[in-house]
Amino acid sequence: MSNIAILAGDGIGPEVMIEAKKVLACIADKFQITINTTDYDVGGAAIDNHGNALPPATLAGCEQADAILFGSVGGPKWANLPPTEQPERCALLGLRGHFDLFCNMRPATLQPALASLSTLRSDISAQGFDVLVIRELTGDIYFGEPKGRRGEGDEETGFDSMFYSRQEIKRIAHLAFQAAKKRNNKVTSVDKANVLATSQLWRQVVEEVASEYPEIDYEHLYVDNAAMQLVRDPNQFDVMLCPNLFGDILSDICAMITGSMGLLPSASLNAEGFGMYEPAGGSAPDIAGQGIANPIAQILSAALMLRYSLDQDKAAQIIEQAVTSALDNRILTADLLPEDSKNQAKTTSEVGDYICQFINQANL
Ligand code: NAD
Ligand code: IPM
Ligand code: MN
Repeated sequence: MSNIAILAGDGIGPEVMIEAKKVLACIADKFQITINTTDYDVGGAAIDNHGNALPPATLAGCEQADAILFGSVGGPKWANLPPTEQPERCALLGLRGHFDLFCNMRPATLQPALASLSTLRSDISAQGFDVLVIRELTGDIYFGEPKGRRGEGDEETGFDSMFYSRQEIKRIAHLAFQAAKKRNNKVTSVDKANVLATSQLWRQVVEEVASEYPEIDYEHLYVDNAAMQLVRDPNQFDVMLCPNLFGDILSDICAMITGSMGLLPSASLNAEGFGMYEPAGGSAPDIAGQGIANPIAQILSAALMLRYSLDQDKAAQIIEQAVTSALDNRILTADLLPEDSKNQAKTTSEVGDYICQFINQANL
């Protein structure tokens, strides 16, 4: 029996979470396992209901759970609150920091048969690609202190601090090389070592770790070149090892070249293997409340949860097959369609229903 804390959050979060919960219920039925889900308020919704984006009851629920399935938080309504009270900083970064979820994995794959979904030119997308972004998630300029604003008028300054310790770099680098061993044996480390001291240390430590994995092909790229190479020829990459900020930016590119921001899931893990599972995209205020958001990133995040936290790899695979089948059979939300065929778009719940039906009918 597994207990899952469900933190749907804001904007499209609750809409796509309904579909992920539907899929988990189908999986529980099909595989005869018990998955208890408990919903907790988080983000802007929790500010509105409790005056705090990460209420104590939510944190306690997460601590007692076997894993957290997270939706998305934030939106214009809460964007002008003091920074430490905002949904993103307080709830999302708060949870990542609290549980020391330093390893964020964002697998972006495009199968050749689905190349037409990609925003890349057809000769580039034709071969497909399979990139795993491993993003360090609890260090860098996100968490460094001091951070803030001081002074007034034209003298006012905003400042953030970028830090990495040798230990922080080492632990994420080892995970990247270990992941590459199970994939295509290549690690590309991303940095800005031509400018940043943190990147110089990053590069040095990753090179030291690389020497312990002689069987893995290792290279490093500056982040600007890495962004360019991703849209020029993503097929050259296997594992991309990124500091927190660069991984954030590059993973959005990875999402789009597979077709949409609404396709990319992620797993955020700590050293004990505890995990929070979250789509790479946000609360999408521009489409929230219309029932048209793509639920696939949330559903694939639930699949990663089954794989890494619940030891149900077979169930994760069935969900991944169901998603491929939905895309193959053009069960597509509007974000995956060109402007002139958006009228053929399926709704959020139609995509969820298709995936459930596939699971129900699957031969195990
Ligand atoms: P966003 O990812 O929410 O949206 C960017 C674009 O991608 C929008 O056009 C949106 O419609 C589209 N999109 C994203 N997910 C989609 C989906 N599932 N289906 C269809 N289209 C999708 O980024 P933003 O607009 O920069 O941020 C909006 C809010 O979300 C902000 O408050 C931001 O801080 C927050 N955010 C939260 C998370 C999180 O909670 N994990 C992640 C990113 C952004
Ligand atoms: C993500 C998001 C978050 C991040 C924001 C909302 C704090 O963009 O998960 O990619 O930058 O990590
Ligand atoms: Mn992001």
